[in-house]
Amino acid sequence: MTQTTYIVGNWKMHGDSTSTVELLTGITSAFPATSAAVMVCPPNVFLQTALTQLNDHAVSVGAQNVCAQEQNQGAYTGEVSASMLKGLGCSAVIVGHSERRQYYGETNELVAQKTMQVLQTNMLPIVCIGESLEQREANKTFEVLEQQLRCVLDSVLEQTQSAEIIIAYEPVWAIGTGLSASPEQAQEVHAFLRSILQEYSAELAAKTSILYGGSVKPDNAKALLAQQDINGALIGGASLKSEQFIQIVEAV
Ligand code: PGA
Repeated sequence: MTQTTYIVGNWKMHGDSTSTVELLTGITSAFPATSAAVMVCPPNVFLQTALTQLNDHAVSVGAQNVCAQEQNQGAYTGEVSASMLKGLGCSAVIVGHSERRQYYGETNELVAQKTMQVLQTNMLPIVCIGESLEQREANKTFEVLEQQLRCVLDSVLEQTQSAEIIIAYEPVWAIGTGLSASPEQAQEVHAFLRSILQEYSAELAAKTSILYGGSVKPDNAKALLAQQDINGALIGGASLKSEQFIQIVEAV
């Protein structure tokens, strides 16, 4: 069993209706033949635009966040449920991005709940984990990552053994800073994460794609993606420029 290679663009809170159409057009007009599964995650208000424009293309669409509550509908002002995203046509949702943990107080437990919501609606959760600079300097990287990963895996595997999830390792100090982890640094962490998956089951370790994120650019993508345990990339800044995003797809 081999892992699928995913190239995922996380557009964060960027764009307007004009630039969104332009970015999508840039991607579809130059899209190369690739073995990778390619996805973009626009802001919620542009999901429909992306789904419509990518309808006949090999690029799928995911959301950046989801409501943690069990209900498909309910009195949760401002929230969007997993079933709403699924109904729209989304195939995946990013959960637990460090910006949500940092600015919106998302805990490991909440991230686990959101992951379950995504799985229950048959979408693919892209579960983000990562250590801060402070934690890395205090030699807590592996401890922090293990807690973040186990919290999600424990609750997922309690409910279903066949779940498919994507893990994205994104060191917080590398996000949006231009300071990517080196391929060796990233590989060391990815191998560690794979070893935790292996403790749960050999099948889980073999099928789970572990993406790297944090200042992935066309010039470092190839070396990162060449690492044995790096099965793709989650891309912020460089996914907002279609040429750069395409170049990263080509690096696979
Ligand atoms: P970046 O963001 O590529 O701009 O560093 C990555 C992310 O936050 O997913």
